[in-house]
Amino acid sequence: MKTVTVKASSTYNVNIAKGLLSATGPMIAEASMGCIAAIITDSTVKGLYLDTVSESLKAAGITPHCFSFPAGETSKNMSTLSDILEFMASVPLTRRDIVIALGGGVVGDISGFAAACYMRGIKYYQIPTTLLAAVDSSVGGKTAVDLAAGKNLAGAFIQPQAVFCDVNCFDTLSDSVFADGVAEAIKTGILFDKELFEIFESGNVKEDIEKIVSRCVMHKGRVVENDEFERGERKLLNLGHTVGHGIEKCSNYGIRHGNAVAVGTAMIARACSKLGYCEESVCKRIISTLERNGLPVRCEIPSDKLYAAMLNDKKRSGNKITAVLINGIGKCELREIETPYLLNILKAAEE
Ligand SMILES: NC(=O)c1ccc[n+]([C@@H]2O[C@H](COP(=O)([O-])OP(=O)(O)OC[C@H]3O[C@@H](n4cnc5c(N)ncnc54)[C@H](O)[C@@H]3O)[C@@H](O)[C@H]2O)c1
Ligand SMILES: [Zn+2]
Repeated sequence: MKTVTVKASSTYNVNIAKGLLSATGPMIAEASMGCIAAIITDSTVKGLYLDTVSESLKAAGITPHCFSFPAGETSKNMSTLSDILEFMASVPLTRRDIVIALGGGVVGDISGFAAACYMRGIKYYQIPTTLLAAVDSSVGGKTAVDLAAGKNLAGAFIQPQAVFCDVNCFDTLSDSVFADGVAEAIKTGILFDKELFEIFESGNVKEDIEKIVSRCVMHKGRVVENDEFERGERKLLNLGHTVGHGIEKCSNYGIRHGNAVAVGTAMIARACSKLGYCEESVCKRIISTLERNGLPVRCEIPSDKLYAAMLNDKKRSGNKITAVLINGIGKCELREIETPYLLNILKAAEE
């Protein structure tokens, strides 16, 4: 088992191994013996992994109660959040009990937010079942739901008690959902880690999956330790995301987050190369690596429509926005730009 420790406002372990699901009960029971666990999951993951986790909890003296909602980003909203909170109250969950998020990033984000709200905050654990949730969303304590006006506009920072990542769960992912996670891992490589990027450029991704997850978690953990509440350095993790969130919104969430981030990253790479922030060869490497991993690098949405959707992004303050620009593989910079300059970036990316 690989373990990465994150020392944020609270300290916790991210455990990564094959077959970890059936060991979650005893590991959670060490801290929470005899309590009740609300397992929050979605309609797909419920059929695949709920029984294994429930049995493991029961055997360790924890009583599980499960709530599931329809799979997909369109469930990540206030109405599902309200249903989850009412479910917790009906169990009833008390402050000594726990929440377990069993699923992808949608489950993780909404369950974490529910844990932050319920009784002003109860403990929660993350069991990521998508590659995206494993390499990114299960770590760092950002939780949220989408509002009609845009992505992740209501949420809270709350760190999990621990993360249990069973890489065997990725065996049941479709190629395109697996690729969503690859998009976030490639992003991490472009930001901090040339060697990690090169696994996606020419290596065998599935063979190196435990290494990929632990490297991504290590980088994210370090950034979160330095800047938990995203006042500076953590904004780097938004590479490709301002555009990506615009794409998700314009497509009515028909384009999934990881795919949208891939297009957003490709667009920023093209714009940075055109506007002189990086060499053309860097842009070419990024585009071909995304394509090699089954990810899209363009979308049909016109730049003025995308621009309008992007203005709702949380990274905006007044008429300024913090853009993440690419200088090279493993080297990016934060730059505060006037919002109209975003349109230049989008136009440069279109050519
Ligand atoms: N909090 C953060 O820091 C952070 C970071 C990155 C992304 N996110 C959020 O994460 C979300 C995207 O997460 P996602 O890509 O995991 O999407 P998701 O949770 O919707 O999962 C994608 C699909 O895969 C299915 N699935 C999950 N595990 C499976 C498995 N093991 N086998 C088969 N099918 C499985 C799900 O049911 C769903 O249909 C977005 O809402 C995004 O905003 C949050
Ligand atoms: Zn993301």
